[in-house]
Amino acid sequence: MKDYKLLGSPESRIEGYLKVTGKAKYSAEFPIPNALYGFPVRSTISKGSIATIDTEKAEASEGVVKIITYKNALDLGEDKKNDSGKISEGTRKVLQDNVIKSYGQYIGIVVAETFEQARAASRMIEVTYNEEKPVISFEENRNKAYKPDPGRPSGIDTSRGSLEQGINEATTMVDEVYNTPIEVHNPMEPHATIAVFEGEKLTIYDTSQMLYRTIDAVAEVFSMPKEDIKVIATFIGGGFGSKLRAWEHVMLTILAAKMLDKPVKTAITRQMMQTNAGMRQHNRQHIRLGANDSARLTALAHEVVSHTAVDELYVEKSGYYSRSMYAVPNTLVTHRVYDTNIQVPSSMRAPGEAPGSFALESAMDEMAHKLNMDPIEFRIKNEPEKDPHTDKPWSSRSLIECMKVGAEKFGWERRKQEPRSNPDGNWLIGYGMAGASRGAPYQQASSRLILNKKGDEVTATVEMAATDIGTGSYTIIAQTAANTLGIPVDQVEVHIGDSSLPKTPGSGGSWGAGTFSSAADAVCEKVIKDLKEKAGIATDQEISIGDLLDAAKLDTYKAVATAMADDDASNYSHYSFGAHFVEVWVDEKLGIVKIPHVLSTAAVGTVLNQKTARSQVLGGIIFGLGQAMTEETLLDERYGSYVTRTLADYHVPVNLDIGKIDLHFIPEKDEHINRMGVKGIGELGISSVAAAITNAIFNATGKRARNLPVTPAKMIAIDESVAV
Ligand code: MOS
Repeated sequence: MKDYKLLGSPESRIEGYLKVTGKAKYSAEFPIPNALYGFPVRSTISKGSIATIDTEKAEASEGVVKIITYKNALDLGEDKKNDSGKISEGTRKVLQDNVIKSYGQYIGIVVAETFEQARAASRMIEVTYNEEKPVISFEENRNKAYKPDPGRPSGIDTSRGSLEQGINEATTMVDEVYNTPIEVHNPMEPHATIAVFEGEKLTIYDTSQMLYRTIDAVAEVFSMPKEDIKVIATFIGGGFGSKLRAWEHVMLTILAAKMLDKPVKTAITRQMMQTNAGMRQHNRQHIRLGANDSARLTALAHEVVSHTAVDELYVEKSGYYSRSMYAVPNTLVTHRVYDTNIQVPSSMRAPGEAPGSFALESAMDEMAHKLNMDPIEFRIKNEPEKDPHTDKPWSSRSLIECMKVGAEKFGWERRKQEPRSNPDGNWLIGYGMAGASRGAPYQQASSRLILNKKGDEVTATVEMAATDIGTGSYTIIAQTAANTLGIPVDQVEVHIGDSSLPKTPGSGGSWGAGTFSSAADAVCEKVIKDLKEKAGIATDQEISIGDLLDAAKLDTYKAVATAMADDDASNYSHYSFGAHFVEVWVDEKLGIVKIPHVLSTAAVGTVLNQKTARSQVLGGIIFGLGQAMTEETLLDERYGSYVTRTLADYHVPVNLDIGKIDLHFIPEKDEHINRMGVKGIGELGISSVAAAITNAIFNATGKRARNLPVTPAKMIAIDESVAV
């Protein structure tokens, strides 16, 4: 592992100036000469087919260039199917027939000279439908759930030992169901795409977390060679998983550009963000947890039922959280889905862990209560020495320290084990905690370094096809290169967000920082090694990069390198760990829950930048507050239409909902993950926050909130008899 001298230096974002002065260009903002504007048209039913579609009036409307529907769209050929018989992720061929499978499905695109003209004309299109009764209701349809992905050799179910035996050995059981609703990502920057053809070559300015995934999907939909497609995403205003894949507006835009042989720009609306850009689906999680008289876990079943689209499969693996978190000899983890006429779900921040941790960390708290044990003590008692799922040692695991340090800093000793024992006027005060974890995957990435020396000053340009979704990629890449080259950060320029640069996996799954910094470090080291060779200098001799260029008689040098995972990385299990501590005040009569204080600890290996890392975790914690208290996409079950149509109806926490948040990084060295020792951070922040909150609500009131979000109405309605 790399000795990182500038460890954690809290540099401000190097691109911050460009952002606050409006100079940073987001996808919709690239000034493309002669670009036309696309405005998608959405279905107003969720199941059936288009009977008639009259575009005549809209076509005659001012500025309209073309209206594309299934009637006149280019034939794109057959959809590619995967093992489950459904369309391969993100490759649905748009506007090929009149069939409607979900509410809001795009049924056309209006192309006009201005955005306003396109939008106005879209409202003049008259559509009639053959409407069928859609499959929407979770309660009515969940019994139709099936085992997804039969083609996958290992399957997504896992087990160890014998659940039955584990349950027999248990002297105390928790057997409960936890529900989390549909949620949407809603990044500040809505999705937008510009498609520009030059001959056969296509450039897409697309707000995309993973540039190559967009290329793969576009190549499939339009039967194009991947080499002919370039994706630009210089700045991205948040992603949270909604930008991991190319949605259908991307395909509509490319289709329009291709048919018209003109650049086309499409920026989707906030309303379309609710219906056409992915979501986290409703999860029903049934947990059975057994413990013996020594407070050791003997059994854990985590069975998840959720929904997917009729023509595309997505399964959030919420049960995976239960595979590795605590020491349990007998487990069963299953995932089942049923098909609905709701848009296809997709990865949303900490896919799997965010809902999975809510269920398991709630159940752990329920068990600790039944055993009359402190929930931290109970977790420590069930700490696994190695990963119980893979049997591999942890690359690092500081969960116990996260809980102990957190408890100390939070003042956990104030908490009384007995619920409802801390009233203050009409308020019931409570404290709750949860352990947290999130996988820390590493992905190989490449980078190019260009060094230039003018006079005494060496400047460096680091290039890679990485993305910065607001997380700080630019800054940590610059810091890493500056550190390895021994030059100030402001002498490093960073070029990312262009798929023609050396390949990286992009931003997702919390691997960005570890991956990009490793690539930057690898290329800087390679350049130093190359130059030393050229200059005949011993590899271990210390020399400044300027002197080294002089010694090699060069004033510029360029190289590319690839950073692999550590050789022994696959022998270890990689997770980030943390703990959340929450104080709540509950007014039972009004159902109001105030959260004045959250204190979190996180052990994530090397922290490259204290400031950007902290921001990411804070963002995650606030996401967790939203998950617990406010966020919920509501559908009208009769029609499949959305009740929560915009950010005005879909509630996220605002400043008044967010109290004090403290965060402490637990120093940690991970020698078995990547050369920088960096583990993931962006998704650890949200994991388990909701459980810590509902555990605190239980401590305050003796009432267990198992159905998120805990709105005031739900808080009032929890009628379970008080546990004291
Ligand atoms: Mo993440 S849900 O991999 O952006």
